Amino acid sequence: MSLLTGRLAPRIVEEDGSFRTRMLGIAAGMKDVIALGRGDPDFHTPKHIVDAAKAALDANAHHYTGPTGLPELRQAIAQDLKSSYGLDYNAGNIVVTAGVQESIMLAMLALVEAGDEVLITSPRFTTYDTAVRLCGGVPVPVPTFEAKDFALDPAEIRKRITRRTKVFVLVSPNNPTGAVTPPAVIRQIADLAIKHDLLIIADEIYAKMLYAPNEHLSIATLPGMKERTITLNGFSKTYAMTGWRVGYLAAPLDFVEKVTEPRHTLSINTCTVSQHAALAALTGPQDALHAMLAEYAERRAWLMPALTDAGFTFGHPGGAFYIYTNVAYSGLPAPLFCERLLKETGVMVFPGTMFGDDSTDYIRISYLQPLERIKVAMDRIRGFTRGVRP
Ligand SMILES: Cc1ncc(COP(=O)(O)O)c(C=O)c1O
Repeated sequence: MSLLTGRLAPRIVEEDGSFRTRMLGIAAGMKDVIALGRGDPDFHTPKHIVDAAKAALDANAHHYTGPTGLPELRQAIAQDLKSSYGLDYNAGNIVVTAGVQESIMLAMLALVEAGDEVLITSPRFTTYDTAVRLCGGVPVPVPTFEAKDFALDPAEIRKRITRRTKVFVLVSPNNPTGAVTPPAVIRQIADLAIKHDLLIIADEIYAKMLYAPNEHLSIATLPGMKERTITLNGFSKTYAMTGWRVGYLAAPLDFVEKVTEPRHTLSINTCTVSQHAALAALTGPQDALHAMLAEYAERRAWLMPALTDAGFTFGHPGGAFYIYTNVAYSGLPAPLFCERLLKETGVMVFPGTMFGDDSTDYIRISYLQPLERIKVAMDRIRGFTRGVRP
């Protein structure tokens, strides 16, 4: 052990990223891999957004912005939150960050003290666990189940509330299950939050990716909720902009003032060119967004019956671009299923264990390849499963 590692602060706890690294390493050495693993859209960023970034560079947008972001971007975000979700925020309520990822860290740094418990919809995007632990808090998963299409059940939240519970992280649509928490349940969660004085981090990064008849309700629109909610959203998924690193949090003005200096400390500001690109994403034409959403819907509609025909079950995803699929019938635990599927057929999917799931029955399929490639992947998955079944 090096001198430095021997002196690590206790907040640096063991996180196992080795499985993802191994899978990506195996894939790097293979030809014709069909990547249905990462949550990174296969579409490129729409051209008018890229052009806006080029124009910004030509116009010398090479410098720092204020820590909370370009005023015109904050304004455009506030307008979008209003028109898309009925959320009542002004430009001053917005902090632009390096992806939603940095907003998550900033929110946890601002709220979580040693020993605080943070409830998280689960299976889950495990960045939440790491962020909570880095702040000395304790992540507490709130399980959801395939039999109910991984719908969040307020009774499961209630059971886990203790004197130390401070925050509930509501991710809807959720990653990796695609489950959408319906408006009636969001209202129950709001009641619970008020009754038990919980704060809410509402991660709405997939909120524009909804399949009929599912509906999204932003919890901060409900009476008494805006003051106890931090709403997170961003550009990575909606506009196929994962590499640009733009996200944001929306919160009450005095909270924004308090987190401005910590935000400055993390990275001063979100990459200036990327902020100009994000501005173009919101203010420019939305046809490319609608075309991408239509294509995700088509892939999902093809893939669900194909999985059923192949003998798999899954929770019906109401949103996002994932299908959380039960592969127990293959006889292989999910991590082994994924590793062998990749090595033997070149299809990459991720096991549920990467999303904090204790069960080894699940894989997450990201339908982020053209439908023709997804069809080839499905043939390979079907053939592989037939071969390994006991
Ligand atoms: C639920 C959720 N929140 C946040 C993020 C982070 O997104 P980004 O930092 O690219 O905005 C992701 C990425 O997969 C996610 O699934």
